[in-house]
Amino acid sequence: MKKYIVVASVFMGLALVFFYIGNHISAQEQTRPESVTHEGGSFGKVTWSHSGHTASVGCKECHHMAESPVQKCNSCHTADATLDAKAAYHKNCIDCHKAKEQGPTGCMDCHKK
Ligand code: HEC
Ligand code: HEC
Ligand code: HEC
Ligand code: HEC
Repeated sequence: MKKYIVVASVFMGLALVFFYIGNHISAQEQTRPESVTHEGGSFGKVTWSHSGHTASVGCKECHHMAESPVQKCNSCHTADATLDAKAAYHKNCIDCHKAKEQGPTGCMDCHKK
């Protein structure tokens, strides 16, 4: 019984170490942007603070697939996807701002020429 506990503890310890290294490496490989600017076509650029959002909003609220490493939204939300990039951004960004009654919801509050 004692032997079993020792062996189990060693395995759990190793599992924890690998879990830590796994998270640590992926955090080092990818740098989080301070702010993000979308070109937004003829409608005008959209600039917002990524670090400002991560202070109050969880990663998965936006990176909803929790993929690692993080991919750009438009790598899946392509022109022929159920939601193209514009629809995906608008739904994600505007729905939350409306729900929280914080953040811009008017077209020209986000898009700047
Ligand atoms: C919360 C911020 C926000 C608000 C509010 C918003 N947009 Fe956007 N919009 C974006 C983002 C982000 C994109 C993605 C831009 C990209 O893909 O480069 C976008 C993309 C677009 C595009 C596509 C541009 C392109 O060429 O790909 C159009 C057109 C557009 N918005 C129009 C509007 C209109 C009209 C409104 C008001 C009804 C509006 N937007 C409100 C953030 C916003
Ligand atoms: C409000 C929505 C939102 C939140 C919250 C958010 N992100 Fe992002 N993140 C984005 C968008 C949008 C981009 C720009 C890339 C794109 O256009 O798809 C981005 C970019 C990134 C990038 C760079 C990806 C690249 O290929 O350039 C990383 C890494 C990242 N985010 C990690 C995180 C982590 C980790 C968290 C949580 C601590 C987080 N993000 C929270 C929306 C968000
Ligand atoms: C790895 C692929 C992938 C990535 C990356 C991704 N999405 Fe999605 N997303 C999907 C799929 C699949 C769906 C289901 C609908 C569809 O097929 O378009 C979806 C659905 C959505 C929806 C609709 C959710 C609902 O409740 O109706 C929104 C909004 C959305 N994505 C926004 C984003 C934003 C913003 C980003 C980047 C921060 C992002 N997605 C990154 C694959 C992805
Ligand atoms: C899950 C909730 C949530 C999502 C998703 C979200 N926001 Fe916000 N946003 C907020 C909150 C809360 C604030 C006000 C607090 C603050 O300023 O950080 C805000 C503030 C802002 C502001 C003003 C402050 C700044 O960051 O520059 C802009 C611009 C903005 N959001 C753009 C966007 C865009 C563009 C997206 C989509 C890519 C987005 N937001 C997605 C919650 C959200």
